[in-house]
Amino acid sequence: MIGLDFSAPRLAVSRTRAQSSAAPATLHPQWIRGDAIQIPFSDGSFDLVTIAYGLRNLASFEAGLREMWRVAKPGGRLLALDFGKPDNALWRSLYFGYLRRFVPLLGRVFCGDSQTHAYILESLRHYPAQNGVAAALHGLNCGDIRTLTLLGGAMSINYGEKI
Ligand SMILES: C[S@@+](CC[C@H](N)C(=O)[O-])C[C@H]1O[C@@H](n2cnc3c(N)ncnc32)[C@H](O)[C@@H]1O
Repeated sequence: MIGLDFSAPRLAVSRTRAQSSAAPATLHPQWIRGDAIQIPFSDGSFDLVTIAYGLRNLASFEAGLREMWRVAKPGGRLLALDFGKPDNALWRSLYFGYLRRFVPLLGRVFCGDSQTHAYILESLRHYPAQNGVAAALHGLNCGDIRTLTLLGGAMSINYGEKI
């Protein structure tokens, strides 16, 4: 199992958390510094390629998905968890209001910095969320494409299989 991020401090946190988890050491990932839109592995390397709260932050989520698809084996599974955009206009506006006003407050209280996590709403502006990710998986000709929405679409998991 490989865990990839381009931030060395983030990898150090992941390594520490894995070591203090109950999982046996044989299940700990190997942590690698690298770019998600240029994954340093050859085509068809993995049975499962997953990304959590990452696609939205990439320079191009389509390029990130293409890379995930490339390094998946034929029949391999792709999974992406991220903030979503609720389809319901009222819920979307309440949710975006929460991200705009309440989340910076939480950042100030728990991290001493109101800007911590305030970027989430900004990062959602140019990200098409679950519907756009599903469309991109169709564009990659994936099979068994599914979208699981959580909290009315505030969070989502996109799934597809490389044919
Ligand atoms: C919100 S954090 C999520 C971290 C982790 N996946 C989790 O769920 O806790 C987003 C992470 O994406 C990483 N990241 C952003 N762009 C990246 C890229 N092009 N390649 C690799 N990692 C990237 C950042 O360094 C950051 O650690």
